[in-house]
Amino acid sequence: MKIKTILTSFFLIFLNFIVQVNSQTCDSTIPYSPCSRNSACGCFPMAGADNIGVCAFLWKFCSQLAPCGLSQECSDPDHICVHHSQCSNQPVCYPLSMINENICPPQSNSIMTNTTLTTTMSMEVTTTKIKLNEWKQQARIVMGANGSGSELNQILLPQRILLDKDQNIFIADWGNHRIVQWKLNENSGKVVAGGNGYGNRTDQLNFPIDMIVDEENNSVIIADRGNSRVVRWFNETKQEILIENIGCFGLRQDKFGFLYVSDMKKNEVRKWKMEEIKGNEGIVVAGGNGEGNQTNQFDRPHFMFVDDEQSIYVSDLGNHRVMKWRKDAKEGIVVAGGNGLGKELNQLNSPKGIFVDDDGQVYVADSWNHRIMRWSEGKEEGEIIVGGNGKGNELNQMSHPFDLSFDVEGNLYISDCENSRISRFDLIVQ
Ligand SMILES: *[C@@H]1O[C@H](CO)[C@@H](O)[C@H](O)[C@H]1NC(C)=O
Ligand SMILES: *[C@@H]1O[C@H](CO)[C@@H](O)[C@H](O)[C@H]1NC(C)=O
Ligand SMILES: *[C@@H]1O[C@H](CO)[C@@H](O)[C@H](O)[C@H]1NC(C)=O
Ligand SMILES: *[C@@H]1O[C@H](CO)[C@@H](O)[C@H](O)[C@H]1NC(C)=O
Ligand SMILES: *[C@@H]1O[C@H](CO)[C@@H](O)[C@H](O)[C@H]1NC(C)=O
Ligand SMILES: *[C@@H]1O[C@H](CO)[C@@H](O)[C@H](O)[C@H]1NC(C)=O
Repeated sequence: MKIKTILTSFFLIFLNFIVQVNSQTCDSTIPYSPCSRNSACGCFPMAGADNIGVCAFLWKFCSQLAPCGLSQECSDPDHICVHHSQCSNQPVCYPLSMINENICPPQSNSIMTNTTLTTTMSMEVTTTKIKLNEWKQQARIVMGANGSGSELNQILLPQRILLDKDQNIFIADWGNHRIVQWKLNENSGKVVAGGNGYGNRTDQLNFPIDMIVDEENNSVIIADRGNSRVVRWFNETKQEILIENIGCFGLRQDKFGFLYVSDMKKNEVRKWKMEEIKGNEGIVVAGGNGEGNQTNQFDRPHFMFVDDEQSIYVSDLGNHRVMKWRKDAKEGIVVAGGNGLGKELNQLNSPKGIFVDDDGQVYVADSWNHRIMRWSEGKEEGEIIVGGNGKGNELNQMSHPFDLSFDVEGNLYISDCENSRISRFDLIVQ
């Protein structure tokens, strides 16, 4: 039968994947139709297969899904090629971790035999997208549980964190003047840049704040804040200075190959074409009108986020707001805070790290309020998603969170700066 044929051809390619696909194929006549006890899962049509799909978690970080190859293959063996029309017209490579039975348990027999329910389910045209709605309020400490320090399993006042698809977490270990990589599934770490004491030699860092991990070129680009420079670090013996004399704080790269740097001294954001950084001034793409609270100004721009349309989101520290500058805009719009310093739901106190999901919802490390907030466009106020229980080191608390990041399953990680630890808040799968 058709299923057999398809599965056989997959079998040749993805040996250890076949069992999972086999047990969780679904009828994909209606894309995204329910297929699991978990209502956040839906049926994804497999590329190249008629009406056969895989039951997978409806994941909305479209920008992290790469297109499939010409023959609908994925170069990464942990991915499978599916249609995901909410993300792209072209088939995309979807992580196998999203297809895991633990995430999308099959509908049990009792549910299957509940005719009322199955009928409504198969009739229903669902518009469900993954709801990144709720996280457990008690954290798990994934790094730094044994106190701050400079051992490999310790950090000191962590700033930016980012997770890659292989569950590596990269940390700007500010107080130790180094960038570390921590393998979450192995509980082991290594220094990827710095770690030679603080100083201005090219093999040293001085309070690094932000970084971009360039896995393609095996290098890390670092905002070496204490040295007022942006450097690229290949390894122990090879580093280069990309930009000098800059009050750099945040760094981002977009998919068109531009590097963005926020400058706290000049209250602006500049961008450079990646290959033409050295010796170039770059161009101002946000701010640049002195320090102030107008919509074309910043008061110490901090971390950033750049979306696929090249809109730049900037946490505007001293104005207690997050600004969004569309590409080529002359001024920004307030997308979070902007109602003065405070702890009401419509306020922020010294916002730092930000993340923006595909629906344009802005996640903010509301640092001095010791909470992580989410703001939806057009809403007057945000909501607290974790923290907000005062400054402290209990598992439902944090002390000056500086940044946040999500793994591919939607679990939330924060750099809990003053506790010198990285906490994970598990996504509650409904
Ligand atoms: C089966 O259907 C009944 C009646 O509609 C409903 O009350 C019940 O919750 C369903 N059972 C399950 C397991 O969902
Ligand atoms: C903390 O230290 C204990 C004992 O030295 C060790 O068993 C444990 O793995 C450490 N935890 C972390 C997260 O490093
Ligand atoms: C590097 O640091 C040394 C010692 O602190 C200082 O004398 C020197 O001017 C610095 N060099 C640069 C390029 O900043
Ligand atoms: C990697 O290096 C190549 C050659 O130097 C360059 O063209 C490319 O933009 C780099 N990629 C990134 C992501 O920086
Ligand atoms: C360091 O990186 C450079 C550039 O990628 C490479 O040529 C060199 O072999 C590397 N050195 C070591 C010790 O890995
Ligand atoms: C903006 O700054 C001006 C001048 O410093 C000040 O008078 C005004 O109250 C500020 N507005 C807000 C909304 O903070």
